[in-house]
Amino acid sequence: MIVHSGTCQIQTQRLVLRKFVQSDAEPMFNNWAGDCENVKYVSWKAHKSLSETQKLVSDWIQGYDNLDYYRWVITLKDSGHVIGEISVIDFSDCDECCEIGYILSKKYWNMGFMTEALNAVIRYLFEKVGFHRVQLRHDVNNPASGRVMQKNGLKYEGTLRHSRKNNQGNYCDTSIYSILKFEFKF
Ligand SMILES: CC(C)(COP(=O)(O)OP(=O)(O)OC[C@H]1O[C@@H](n2cnc3c(N)ncnc32)[C@H](O)[C@@H]1OP(=O)(O)O)[C@@H](O)C(=O)NCCC(=O)NCCS
Repeated sequence: MIVHSGTCQIQTQRLVLRKFVQSDAEPMFNNWAGDCENVKYVSWKAHKSLSETQKLVSDWIQGYDNLDYYRWVITLKDSGHVIGEISVIDFSDCDECCEIGYILSKKYWNMGFMTEALNAVIRYLFEKVGFHRVQLRHDVNNPASGRVMQKNGLKYEGTLRHSRKNNQGNYCDTSIYSILKFEFKF
């Protein structure tokens, strides 16, 4: 059974995942949202101005009024630097399934940070909220994201043809991965 608990703070070895606050907009814009290369494989285009990021963060903060809203800003435990975002982008209470999306500042790629963040969020969604299945999808041209899923024990289920439009408006194939609660190593 699902018991929504909202975006509670989560700590890992190197990271603190917490709710966004308005002052996160500036580092978010500078570190990933305003950078075309950083958003190449997501569905939205790079923000043209800080005000665009500020408006989005303000909307996200309002989202925290709902207990079924899960969106964490990823920060470094040591420095507090704001380095990325991870969230539940879709869910079904009756099926007890959800889908996660994420993005990390390119300055911090390939250091294992998203693998660490994803592990903690999956644990939270199984343990605290009670989901039975967690899934993620990635553009087939973005294998690094698939690696993050594999490293967390998710199983490849197939490739969905033309299942998403990228931020250039082109159809792209996405690979889908999932993990079930009993498969997760708590
Ligand atoms: C995808 C993303 C989240 C990965 O985050 P990260 O913190 O760099 O991931 P990790 O360091 O935990 O793991 C990355 C893995 O991908 C591998 N990798 C990197 N580039 C790769 C490539 N071109 N092909 C295959 N594997 C690659 C790394 O070697 C590493 O695997 P390893 O530990 O086995 O060596 C990050 O690159 C990102 O935010 N990209 C932009 C936004 C995005 O693509 N979001 C995902 C949308 S589905």
